[in-house]
Amino acid sequence: MTLRIDMHSHFFPPIGQDEAAALDVQQAPWLRIDADGQRGMIMTGKRTFRPVYRALWDPVARLEELDALGVDVQLMCATPVMFGYQYGAAAAHEWAMRMNDRALELCANARGRLMVLAQVPLQDIELACREATRAFRAGHRGVQIGNHVGPRDLDDEHLVTFLTHCANEGIPVLVHPWDMMTDGRMRKWMLPWLVAMPAETQLSMLSLILSGAFERIPRSLQLCFAHGGGSFAFLLGRVQNAWEQRDIVRENCPNPPASYVDRFYVDSAVFDAVALRLLVDTMGENRVMLGSDYPFPLGEQKIGELVASRAELSVTAKEKILGGNAQRFFGLPDVAGVRTA
Ligand code: CO
Repeated sequence: MTLRIDMHSHFFPPIGQDEAAALDVQQAPWLRIDADGQRGMIMTGKRTFRPVYRALWDPVARLEELDALGVDVQLMCATPVMFGYQYGAAAAHEWAMRMNDRALELCANARGRLMVLAQVPLQDIELACREATRAFRAGHRGVQIGNHVGPRDLDDEHLVTFLTHCANEGIPVLVHPWDMMTDGRMRKWMLPWLVAMPAETQLSMLSLILSGAFERIPRSLQLCFAHGGGSFAFLLGRVQNAWEQRDIVRENCPNPPASYVDRFYVDSAVFDAVALRLLVDTMGENRVMLGSDYPFPLGEQKIGELVASRAELSVTAKEKILGGNAQRFFGLPDVAGVRTA
């Protein structure tokens, strides 16, 4: 059996309203679990945010599902509503440490099959670097960051400093879109998830490319963007043409945009065979990793099925995308056979 490592999934620790109130009574996220223990609701203060089910917070229930799905190892990261970037730095730092410690507890008895990515108080770069290093040494396999902090994108000097820190410390980074446009014309039909999220990711990638930030960030940085890189692969030709035709596009970017695809990875969560083919053609089979967005309805429900079912992908390409690339990205040499151990 081909090793399957799902590198994009989410958790939410079973924290109650009182614990969340230590961060903020009005808006802090917490988990309301139904009496039967099977389903629940992520709350923000007194408001409902998202209905969820047991696998989100219970590692035993999660592993049962992963067994049924044939997934060997899963990387879990915070549900973005947990980030806390809007709070004061000290409070957000305290919160991040608390969430990161809870995350390690969730995978303590998972026999190496559940691993976690840390969250950091990205609004304060010194504290973010400190927590990234602390969590990585405590057992987290990398960090997940939101794709922006308020108006600051990834080319912001502070965020470049953070990415450089991660490169120097060997800490892999997953960039996840969050805090999308949600008002006005975006109010309907989950449009923030369908339109704004892919655009947010595209914005982050172009921020790094067109600003020249990739020229300053060490090549050793292990960087991955969620959701197949959002709009990036489909629109790379448009960006490339703009760079060739307009000096204001290439002003800070010395090399053609397409030449930077060897600086990052993307996950495979695109839900469509033609989109996956474009993604693998654009990124190369070494730079796409299985990522499901489990356990949410907008994730791939049969984790890995899209990749595994594609006749045009070679056996070698499938092995890389389903597990080998993530093994290399996260430095996980010893996970083969972990499911049956
Ligand atoms: Co996600």
